[in-house]
Amino acid sequence: MVDGGKIERTEDDDTREAMHELPYGIYVIGTADGGRPNAMIADWVMQVSFRPRLIAAAFERDSSSLARLRGHRWFTVNLLNQSGNGMALAARFVQPADASKVRGRSDEAAARHIDKLEGVDFRLSQRAPGCPILDDALAYLECEADEFVDAGDHVLVIARVLYGAPQNAGEPLTSTFTGWSYSG
Ligand SMILES: Cc1cc2nc3c(=O)[nH]c(=O)nc-3n(C[C@H](O)[C@H](O)[C@H](O)COP(=O)(O)O)c2cc1C
Repeated sequence: MVDGGKIERTEDDDTREAMHELPYGIYVIGTADGGRPNAMIADWVMQVSFRPRLIAAAFERDSSSLARLRGHRWFTVNLLNQSGNGMALAARFVQPADASKVRGRSDEAAARHIDKLEGVDFRLSQRAPGCPILDDALAYLECEADEFVDAGDHVLVIARVLYGAPQNAGEPLTSTFTGWSYSG
């Protein structure tokens, strides 16, 4: 609301800012569908059970990664590193695989499929068949989706952790470090 040229803060502004204060890790979730693997940046990833060891990750309903997961339920979670090329890797994975996901593009631009993994060093997981493990990830998990739960505008995927390993020294890339907010 505008009052004498001043925009008044609302309760929603307070809540959004409080949500921005929650710290998140910055992950690259790797999926496969029999063809070329895909990878997307995500920060809504957390452990939700010790025994069995389960994590949950929230996916946008129209992400191509979620569509892949519904067909091939394995995925990898790559935790990025603050040092080295962590920020550059993160920036690379923010775009969607299908350019049409970004509204307002021309038909020609929207028809493009982006291979975000081109030029990135990775190997394919055996336990999460065909899913990418990034060489420069601080640590990674290999997971198998158990449940798909509708959660507002996202779908929560609850998954078993089949295996995980730390693989590089460093500190985890976080939303506090990047200053990027996917929250609120
Ligand atoms: C910092 C950051 C964090 C993000 N976290 C998530 C997330 O937790 N879940 C999600 O579905 N999308 C998240 N996104 C958006 C996805 O990366 C984006 O929608 C992407 O287009 C999906 O890629 P895909 O279509 O190749 O699967 C995030 C984006 C940024 C920039």
